Amino acid sequence: MSLLSIKGLSGGYGETDIVAEIDLTLEDQEIVTIAGTNGAGKSTLVKAVLGLLPRVRGEIVLAGRSLTSLAAEERFYAGLAYVPQVANVFGSLTVRENLLVVRGVKQINQRAKKVLELFPALVEKLSQRASHLSGGERQQLAFARALMPSPKLMVLDEPTAALAPALVEKVFELVSQLPARGVAVLMVEQRARQALKISQRGYILDQGRCVLSGIASEILADPKMTQLYLGHR
Ligand SMILES: Nc1ncnc2c1ncn2[C@@H]1O[C@H](COP(=O)(O)OP(=O)(O)O)[C@@H](O)[C@H]1O
Ligand SMILES: [Mg+2]
Repeated sequence: MSLLSIKGLSGGYGETDIVAEIDLTLEDQEIVTIAGTNGAGKSTLVKAVLGLLPRVRGEIVLAGRSLTSLAAEERFYAGLAYVPQVANVFGSLTVRENLLVVRGVKQINQRAKKVLELFPALVEKLSQRASHLSGGERQQLAFARALMPSPKLMVLDEPTAALAPALVEKVFELVSQLPARGVAVLMVEQRARQALKISQRGYILDQGRCVLSGIASEILADPKMTQLYLGHR
């Protein structure tokens, strides 16, 4: 059984379907990238998984549990984590407080310790207000917060979009460490080549439909695919 299984997913914001008939699976320990041109429906698909899309048909099952009838908050408790691009930490709280106010966190200190192994830079700043962190550190804190409830799957929508180039590599490195810690990753990325390099498999969306899915290295090796969907580079 796949960790995440999406079957026949269609939906949108109003009457028209923005994404249509999407089938997608994601296994334990996997990183899967969703790529595609601007407006292809990648964020819409992510919203459907998170429970943030107004109108959805089809099936979304996480670890054997159907998510479709669950509200966004309940999906969080079912093991789904999400790092929003903005407003993802509380600026007026310290780093420590940011980690501890996450609801659903049971073994606070133990879990925080485990999570902080991934973010050594934050360990020295536990007592600092999040508003005093650099952009990169804030991003790390947002990831750390998302990892606090021991999610099964982390969903990322363009995690590198707002970052300075120097930090982009760091985010990919961090993401690539998650599966070994028991967290699979479903990631949308504009930097599709870099994302596919750390992914096992990829899906390419075009006008709301999946036009290709396969092994990440094979997508990267296909000149037609890279030219059409991953840009020239
Ligand atoms: N909140 C919204 N309301 C109505 N239409 C939307 C909304 N968000 C996105 N869309 C439309 O859905 C389509 C796909 O958008 P999106 O999923 O954001 O694409 P991508 O993330 O691949 O760039 C676009 O045509 C966009 O205009
Ligand atoms: Mg998007």
